[in-house]
Amino acid sequence: MSNLNQLKEKIAELKEELRAVIVAHNYQRPEVQDIADFVGDSLELSRKCTEVDAETIAFCGVHFMAETAAILNPNRTVLLAEGSAGCPMADMITVDELREWKRRYPRAAVVCYVNSTAEVKAESDICCTSANGVEVVESVPNDDILFVPDQNLGHYISTQTKKNIILYPGFCIVHHRIKPEQVKLAKKLHPDAQVIVHPECRPEVIDLADAALSTSQMIRYAKESSHQSFIIGTEEGLLHRLRQENPGKSFYLVTDSQICINMKKTTLETLAQTMELRQNMVTVPEAIRIKAKQAVDRMLAISYQVKAKELD
Ligand code: 13P
Ligand code: SF4
Repeated sequence: MSNLNQLKEKIAELKEELRAVIVAHNYQRPEVQDIADFVGDSLELSRKCTEVDAETIAFCGVHFMAETAAILNPNRTVLLAEGSAGCPMADMITVDELREWKRRYPRAAVVCYVNSTAEVKAESDICCTSANGVEVVESVPNDDILFVPDQNLGHYISTQTKKNIILYPGFCIVHHRIKPEQVKLAKKLHPDAQVIVHPECRPEVIDLADAALSTSQMIRYAKESSHQSFIIGTEEGLLHRLRQENPGKSFYLVTDSQICINMKKTTLETLAQTMELRQNMVTVPEAIRIKAKQAVDRMLAISYQVKAKELD
């Protein structure tokens, strides 16, 4: 048996032993996505973790994602497949900085992007993801919204609502790196392609795109579109599902540097080792968890409503 097959077999055995479910973000390596029970965007992963029948959640993604699973699942063990996988954007705001900004804008409701720490979520009124940011902001009664930490997602939401969005200056190093000139060049090379980008991209990049969507929304968009080719403005890991689920369609990245090194730290080896040693357990102190859960639950209630409307 090849090493790869042995590794896969070992993971399957550990899964049974731990009564585990393996979940993976859309940016994970292809072989990690392929072994997972569920692959999705941040919103889908948050929801999925509340629905699974498992004692252990083996999370292939970055720290804030596993932490969100731990916030929602106090009775399950959450293991992060690679303990050092963080999200630099989530670390761009501390709870003290958020408290300081709240003092500056006392009338504003705080909406935090899910790419944030549990402490920041606990200090926020409601959480959102790139899939539901506009609906979340619209659901809040306040006219002023303090949006943390992603300035680009916050700016994108501000173009879709009449509310006054106060932007905190955080950003994603992977998406912010994509420049409008690079999108223009990609469009020249592939004139028939639709441009779909993540709302973590700069406003000038989003302005050049046909749509700004979460990672799973991009997959649905490409499937439903009559277009045959697409220029993709997000992390390269998404190409795996895009190509798998859309055989015959063509996908091009804007640049060759759309790689989140943190997402790529997880391998089948780190997953197996984490499960075997029951290491990288992600926990949240109870007082913070309860407050953070309120912000996440409010978001999930909104997105369940949106889903129900879509099904009407
Ligand atoms: P999605 O929620 O669209 O999957 O995005 C998460 C993320 O970290 C994007 O960089
Ligand atoms: Fe964080 Fe950007 Fe990586 Fe997403 S792509 S996990 S926002 S660093």
